Amino acid sequence: MTPNDAHDAFWDNAQLVTLIDGLVERGWYVGEGFLAPGLCQGLRDDMERLHQRQALQEAAIGRGDERTLRRDIRGDAIHWLDRESLAQRRYLTLMSELQQQINVALYAGLFEFEAHFALYPPGAFYRKHYDSFRGRANRVISTVLYLNPEWPADGGGEMVLYDAQETDREAARVQPQAGTFACFLSDRIPHEVLPTRQPRLSIAGWFRRNASLGGVIDPAR
Ligand code: OGA
Ligand code: MN
Repeated sequence: MTPNDAHDAFWDNAQLVTLIDGLVERGWYVGEGFLAPGLCQGLRDDMERLHQRQALQEAAIGRGDERTLRRDIRGDAIHWLDRESLAQRRYLTLMSELQQQINVALYAGLFEFEAHFALYPPGAFYRKHYDSFRGRANRVISTVLYLNPEWPADGGGEMVLYDAQETDREAARVQPQAGTFACFLSDRIPHEVLPTRQPRLSIAGWFRRNASLGGVIDPAR
C-alpha cells in the first residue's frame, strides 16, 4: 500500500505539481477535495472525543518564556496530534508522503511534521500573523486541513492569505470546508482567520527543518 492510498487522499501527480508550482511561484497553494471524506470524518470524530474529555486547551502565542494567552489575538483551543487514533496515523502518514515529495521537488530539507487540532468557538479568530520569522525559520511550510462538512456561506471563519510582497493585498480567501487543504511558506505569507460564527474545526501543521541556533537545537512546538 502506498501512503497516498486512494481512500485517504485525492491528490494525484497533477495536483502535486500544482501544489509545488504554487509554493514556488507565489508561496501558497489551496486545494479542495484534497483528502477523502472518510478520513476527514475520522479526524472529526477524534476532535469530538477530545472535546468530551476536555483535552482541547486554549492556545498561547509566542514560545518559551514569551508564551502568553491572548484572546485578543487568537481564540482557538488546540490538541497536538499524538498518533493516538488510526485517523491521526493515516493523516500523519500522508503528510510524511507529501514531505518526501516536496523534498524531492524542491530540495527543501524538510525533516519533520508537527500538527495540532484546532477548535475555534463562535466569535473566535486569529489576527494576521506569520508562522515563523526569517533567520529563525524552523517552520518552513505551514499546512491547514479543514474538517467542517457543511460550511454555510455566511459562517465566517475564512482564512485570508496575503500577498508575499504586497502584504496588505488579499491573495486568497479560504472557506474552512472539509477536505480543503492549504499550504504556504511559513515566513513569507501573512495570514489570518476571520471571526467565525460557527464552531470551526481544523488541523494546523508545519513542516520543519532542524534549526540549530548557537548550538541549541530548537525543539518542536
Ligand atoms: C495557525 C493558523 C489558520 C487556520 O494556526 O497558525 O494560522 O485557518 N491557522 O486555521
Ligand atoms: Mn498561522
